[in-house]
Amino acid sequence: MRIIVTGGAGFIGSHTAVELLDKGHEAIIIDNLSNSSEKAIDRIEKITGKKVRFYKEDLCNKDGLLSIFEREKADCVIHFAGLKAVGESVKLPYKYYYNNIVGTLNLIDVMNKCGVKNIIFSSSATVYGTPSVVPITEECPKGICTNPYGQTKSMIEQILTDVQKADRSFNVVLLRYFNPIGAHPSGLIGENPNGIPNNLMPFITQVAIGRLSELGVFGNDYDTPDGTGVRDYIHVMDLASAHVHALKKIADGSGISIYNLGTGKGYSVLEVIKSFEQATGIKIPYSFRPRREGDIATCYASAKKAKEELGWEAKYDIIDMCRDSWNFQRLNPNGYDD
Ligand code: NAD
Ligand code: UFG
Repeated sequence: MRIIVTGGAGFIGSHTAVELLDKGHEAIIIDNLSNSSEKAIDRIEKITGKKVRFYKEDLCNKDGLLSIFEREKADCVIHFAGLKAVGESVKLPYKYYYNNIVGTLNLIDVMNKCGVKNIIFSSSATVYGTPSVVPITEECPKGICTNPYGQTKSMIEQILTDVQKADRSFNVVLLRYFNPIGAHPSGLIGENPNGIPNNLMPFITQVAIGRLSELGVFGNDYDTPDGTGVRDYIHVMDLASAHVHALKKIADGSGISIYNLGTGKGYSVLEVIKSFEQATGIKIPYSFRPRREGDIATCYASAKKAKEELGWEAKYDIIDMCRDSWNFQRLNPNGYDD
């Protein structure tokens, strides 16, 4: 299939582009590089030995988007493009609503004009808010999102659901990611956060490389086995492969479907630190800090539906995830800026 990958220069998009090319699909990447580097495109080509067509374009520029769609005649869109920093979204809500919502509305309009009716969207476990039960199944009701970033994910899910309801020839897959970490085993592509990382794994790898001195563990008084927050970490290679499985579903005319993408296992912050030390032999100094505002105690997926309906399940374990995250950091101490 010919797939337009929005946000394909980013962390998850670049890994998915590799998986698409490896599985014989064509990948056409649109990215404005607001949170990524063109070097990721070169690296995708290096890993796969295949050419990628890349357009540096902003989804908020509808005319530019339309001319790409008219030229490329794609079968499907995988929509990763969006801003994703939770804390920044609280400070800059307009920027987040504009970029994520207007970008998606433009995309839907252009898809309609060009007869492209298949879309896979990067959603997030954040749409569940504070989960009432774990593991979280897709039947769990959506919750209250405490930040504009999460609101955009929830709103885009609703927009795509309504678009599909009004036009049954649309096929929509909403993929709710849990906590993506890891990197391609080659160490050529990986997560490349700007500034001081907000998320746990990039913070740990930057402590390991010596860019940061110590990890702050946010809260040790949660109602969890060791008092620290529990999450469902998933290897980005597994996430990438889930998208290719979702393509098969969409090609069969699936209507609307929703899947959690997680491993179904939860690890605490202290367990992640221990796993990282075991995988790499590097000690991570840490100290306990107050809870981070907006954090919940425990969040992990039921991964059953994706297994039953997509034939997909996660293969990589937490040690693989730590090893590959470190491998990318070790080989790219300053990310793509080297
Ligand atoms: P990323 O920032 O690495 O990738 C997003 C890409 O989109 C970047 O390359 C950025 O330059 C591009 N982009 C942003 N706005 C754009 C616009 N208006 N036009 C064109 N390109 C634009 O993030 P990621 O971690 O790869 O996440 C990909 C998607 O998955 C995002 O939608 C994110 O919200 C979602 N998601 C990520 C996580 C996570 O923890 N990484 C969890 C759940 C959901
Ligand atoms: N944590 C620390 N110290 C840090 C960073 C994180 O102790 O420096 C802890 C957090 O308190 C939490 C766990 O590590 O218990 C994981 O935190 P992350 O920031 O890595 O991930 P979150 O679960 O908070 O958020 C992630 C994505 C969001 C997404 C959410 C739900 O960053 O975009 O998962 O899918 F919305």
